[in-house]
Amino acid sequence: MKKSDSKQLPLATASIAGQAPGQFNLDPASDNYCVMGNPVSHSKSPRIHQAFAEQTRQSLVYQAIQVDDDDFPRTLDSFQAAGGKGLNITVPFKGDAWRSVDVASPRADKSEAVNTIWFAEDGTRHGDTTDGVGLVRDLSRHEILLQSKRILLLGAGGAVRGVLASLLDEAPAELMLVNRTVARAEALIELFRGYPALKAGHYEALSGQRFDIIINGTSASLNGELLPLPADILAQGACCYDMVYADTDTVFNHWARQHGAAIVLDGLGMLVEQAAESFFIWRGIRPETRSVIEMLRSVKRKACFVVRDTNNDSRDTFKVPAACPSNPATR
Ligand code: ATR
Repeated sequence: MKKSDSKQLPLATASIAGQAPGQFNLDPASDNYCVMGNPVSHSKSPRIHQAFAEQTRQSLVYQAIQVDDDDFPRTLDSFQAAGGKGLNITVPFKGDAWRSVDVASPRADKSEAVNTIWFAEDGTRHGDTTDGVGLVRDLSRHEILLQSKRILLLGAGGAVRGVLASLLDEAPAELMLVNRTVARAEALIELFRGYPALKAGHYEALSGQRFDIIINGTSASLNGELLPLPADILAQGACCYDMVYADTDTVFNHWARQHGAAIVLDGLGMLVEQAAESFFIWRGIRPETRSVIEMLRSVKRKACFVVRDTNNDSRDTFKVPAACPSNPATR
């Protein structure tokens, strides 16, 4: 299933879909990959995978394919029939992707989402979700280990669901899931029953508690909204991680600094790490991520951007935190 490729130059080319929705052209002389989503035109994935391919001297083409909301199954069929090797899937198709694979990884089954598909020689479709491993790797890159830690995970939407299995696999002492709508957090607890470390709660019940790691998996930062966290919730040396990333501190990360967090991180590293895991699944080679993260950080943006969905920075691009002074519509 996993394959490494010894092909040498020409190296990767990446393109952003300029075609009509559902349309694409494959390069018959190369291995073809893509990200499918809607919208997808601002996706960083082509740039990331191009960088990985150049670094590892792999020959491949990676393009972004815009897909109409009800057209994912057809476009996936065409891409496979045309000889595509694999793809990433982003909003809003991760659930469709999970339903469309023949074999899903256990963590993909748990989250009922797939962001990485690869095709076996016999045409079997395999699916995995790499978001959770991307988050855990980014944390460990910063020497933040989850084992025996008290973790507070905020939110109960798709973003949180996609990382829960990987976080729980790291054996934290406690993983407290808190959501504005408590019933959604409780539904996730039910789905992940069998993990005694996992508990559900609500914001009001947090007072008097301390956590080593707080991960914001809500979309609040996209709207510049502050979460109702007690001022003294951070344990000594605590890390705060916003799965959103932005040119400037998100509202959550700004709060974290103000309240003495020792380490404050955003989700750009997770974006690159989840892509690296996809690349490894497809090519059997694990790219180095630090230089790619630095490359993305150093890209000077004309305006602020705020993103939370891996593989895609389109959907939420035009929502700006209060702290961002620029008009993102100009980017
Ligand atoms: P995604 O699939 O990207 O996670 P989602 O399913 O819409 O998006 O989930 C967004 C999450 O952010 C939810 O957990 C939401 O809380 P509710 O379930 O109560 O709606 C949370 N969220 C968004 N804005 C919030 C805010 N201002 N305060 C607290 N939670 C917020």
